[in-house]
Formats: sequence, structure tokens, C-alpha cells
Amino acid sequence: MTVSSKPAINSFTVMNELVFPNDTNPLHNLMGGRLLHLMDIAAAISAQKHSNHIVVTASVDNVSFKHPVKLGDVITIQAKVTRSFHTSMEIRIEVFSENIQPNSRIKSNEAYYTFVALDDTGKTTLVPEIIPETEEEKQLYITALSRRELRLILAGKMKPENATQLKALFFPEL
Ligand SMILES: CC(C)(COP(=O)(O)OP(=O)(O)OC[C@H]1O[C@@H](n2cnc3c(N)ncnc32)[C@H](O)[C@@H]1OP(=O)(O)O)[C@@H](O)C(=O)NCCC(=O)NCCS
Repeated sequence: MTVSSKPAINSFTVMNELVFPNDTNPLHNLMGGRLLHLMDIAAAISAQKHSNHIVVTASVDNVSFKHPVKLGDVITIQAKVTRSFHTSMEIRIEVFSENIQPNSRIKSNEAYYTFVALDDTGKTTLVPEIIPETEEEKQLYITALSRRELRLILAGKMKPENATQLKALFFPEL
């Protein structure tokens, strides 16, 4: 059974947080685990907006922390579904931080989360397709297939020989 399609923008989510002392390490930098927690919540809200179902985190792609976020900074987390498959959705997260100074906003990191929609009995359930509208959304929609294959192969959920986009990466002689 197919379900309706929804524009990517409908899943757009923005969360703002002020970094308090109990969020930081002894260097007064935001702890990575605290940021991952906030990113997970933003991604879940985005996936829930798209699917209108309870969602669970299936995986988090590699996250690198490019710039430390300091005590007193404001962090802004933006989340949007890039593509849905059957029961799963890929969500792109971007994190920005800024201090009290003007024009201090920088992008501190980004990541892709995968969420799966569940029905009221806890079983996986189909989600609407995504309609990418902007050039960036279209690009992210296309490249989502390769990212999905890579993460499923790394998770042992897909055999490299079954990949379509990434087969050449694993079997260059073919
Ligand atoms: C995520 C979960 C629902 C998947 O269940 P499952 O029995 O493996 O289901 P399936 O194999 O049918 O996969 C369902 C979907 O999840 C996707 N999926 C499963 N494991 C995945 C992974 N490691 N990374 C990305 N996607 C994954 C599948 O590709 C599939 O997507 P599709 O339907 O869009 O094609 C299940 O593993 C689960 O409940 N995990 C715990 C979730 C949780 O508690 N998260 C919080 C951690 S504290």
C-alpha cells in the first residue's frame, strides 16, 4: 500500500538551546553527547512531522565536531527529511552556534540520522514519499540513495553485491 507524498519543507524543524554550565566539560565546551541528544530530538520531531507516526532512531551516520561550542553560546539545530524509503526516513541535521557578538554564527557540525516509523502496535509502518522542491532538496534526495546503501552495508543489513549505487566502490573490477 502506498501513502501520500509530502513536500520536504513540511518536515523542517528548528530548535534553539542556550548552553548552560551543566551541558559543558571542564573546558567550558558543550559535551558531544549532549549535542547528539539535542540533534536526536530535532531529527525525531522532523521525522514525526513527515510520517505522523511514532518514530525511533535506527542509525546515526558519522558525526564530527568541527568547532567547539562554548558555555553561553546559542545553538540552532535545523532538521529536515531528505528522503523516505519504505518505513524509514533520512533526516539531515545542521548545527549552528553563535555567541553574544554580532555576526558570530558558525556552522559547527552536520549529520544524517535515520528514523523508522512505527504503528500503534510497535510494528514498522509505511511513510509518505518526500517531494523535493529546492535545488538543494533535489540534490540531497538523489544522494540519499548512496548514503542509505553505505549505512546499511556498514550495519550488516545489506550485502555489498546488492548495492546499486555503490557496487563499484566494493567491486571496482565489475
Ligand atoms: C529500527 C528498527 C525498528 C528496525 O527494525 P527491523 O526489524 O530491523 O526492521 P527492518 O529490517 O524491516 O527494517 C525497517 C527499516 O529500517 C531500516 N533500517 C534497519 N536498520 C537500519 C540501520 N542500522 N540503519 C539505517 N536504516 C536501518 C531498514 O532499511 C528499513 O527501511 P525501509 O523500510 O525504509 O526499507 C529496530 O531495529 C528497532 O526497533 N531498533 C531500536 C530503535 C530504538 O530503540 N532506537 C533508540 C535507541 S536507544
